[in-house]
Amino acid sequence: MGLLWELLWAGVAIVAVELIRDCRHWLAHRFPKAFPGHYVHHRAYRQDWSWVSEKVYREAEWRNDVPEAVTLVIGAGVLAWGMNLWIPGWGWGVGIPYAVGFLLMALARSQGIGTHSDFTHLPGPFGGPPTQWFVNRPYHWRHHFDHGQAYFGGTLTVLDRILGTALSLKDKKVAVTGASGSLGRALIACLLEQGAKPLALTSQDRPVIVRAKGEEQEIPRVVWQVGAEVDLLGTLREVDILILNHGVNVYGSRTPAAIDISTEVNALSQWRMLELFLSQIKTNAEIATKEVWVNTSEAEVSPALSPLYEISKRYLGELVTLRRLDAPCIIRKLILGPFKSALNPYGVMSAEWVARQIVALAKRDFRNIVITINPLTYVLFPLKELSHSLYFRLFSRRETPTPPSNP
Ligand SMILES: NC(=O)c1ccc[n+]([C@@H]2O[C@H](COP(=O)([O-])OP(=O)(O)OC[C@H]3O[C@@H](n4cnc5c(N)ncnc54)[C@H](OP(=O)(O)O)[C@@H]3O)[C@@H](O)[C@H]2O)c1
Repeated sequence: MGLLWELLWAGVAIVAVELIRDCRHWLAHRFPKAFPGHYVHHRAYRQDWSWVSEKVYREAEWRNDVPEAVTLVIGAGVLAWGMNLWIPGWGWGVGIPYAVGFLLMALARSQGIGTHSDFTHLPGPFGGPPTQWFVNRPYHWRHHFDHGQAYFGGTLTVLDRILGTALSLKDKKVAVTGASGSLGRALIACLLEQGAKPLALTSQDRPVIVRAKGEEQEIPRVVWQVGAEVDLLGTLREVDILILNHGVNVYGSRTPAAIDISTEVNALSQWRMLELFLSQIKTNAEIATKEVWVNTSEAEVSPALSPLYEISKRYLGELVTLRRLDAPCIIRKLILGPFKSALNPYGVMSAEWVARQIVALAKRDFRNIVITINPLTYVLFPLKELSHSLYFRLFSRRETPTPPSNP
């Protein structure tokens, strides 16, 4: 039992050292004049993570990584001393050799010993999108080349998730379908507040006007129709974040026409647009920065008193769960409860409030954004998503499987 406690304290000490590193990093960007070496670190790399020159790289190690590691060693020492006064144990001290390891590596690199950067700065093609809890190369790439005032995590993403800096919307071109609807307009207003450049994808040839930053603004728009998604290929190529939000509710109808429209609009057109968008993601920069947000609704797990609406949203939700297993970029799901709109006049939440929560949670890198008044959804949806994702992972393949040979 004693050993287990010590291992737990050791784990806490290592997490604390990483948080000290991230807080220092955040300070370096808040007060750049106090941390001039950090600027050299940013200057040392090109977009493909190759060094600008060995001289600049070594200078960056000496002026940024060595002082950073010294801070970590001091922080780990103070933590071990302070915690030992309270709960005696050797586990607290583990942060010290952990931090000293970084100091020795930074010293060696600054002297030209060792030819590799640390793992978050290594060149080469990205194997997948930014990860959620641990910093990988695409995640850190965004800090260097997408937006330096976000993505401060060095190893863990915890600080970014607390600060809301795990996604920067600044200057991002964000296309929103169903743009003239209640949630569409509310989302566009929130995106404008965040410094994004929204693009309205709408099926109606009329202006999309939203009120944001205290004034009415007409949003640039592209008119599209269900079934003609391929016409949007050129537009989607230019987009950083695609928000698939259009939808219909045929309420209690079960006519062939109702089946057709709910399947086409709610599931198939969203699916076609998603695949078109994913097909355009090829470079490291695109893998690191592009995202899709799919508004599937809490009808994925809860009744919406509209069977065809539920069927179409569940179909889309399952396809997204499967596709997320090896998608080239981040795909978020929006799992929303009832809010007031033309589609749901009885909704109890407001579209504006829901949109603000969506953006706040996306900035904290929630991949499944659940916003509802139904407490069951907060339990049922994660269970459903995890179990179905595991099932799909076990019983489907990325490659076309070889058919069994005839006996
Ligand atoms: N309201 C709720 O309680 C609730 C709950 C969970 C999820 N949702 C989902 O949230 C999303 C937005 O819905 P909302 O509540 O804001 O409803 P809304 O105000 O009716 O907006 C839906 C928008 O979807 C687009 N659309 C409708 N029919 C279309 C068609 N045949 N082809 C192409 N686009 C079409 C329209 O936008 P354009 O005219 O700009 O194309 C329409 O304004 C939907 O996907 C909905 O399922 C809603």
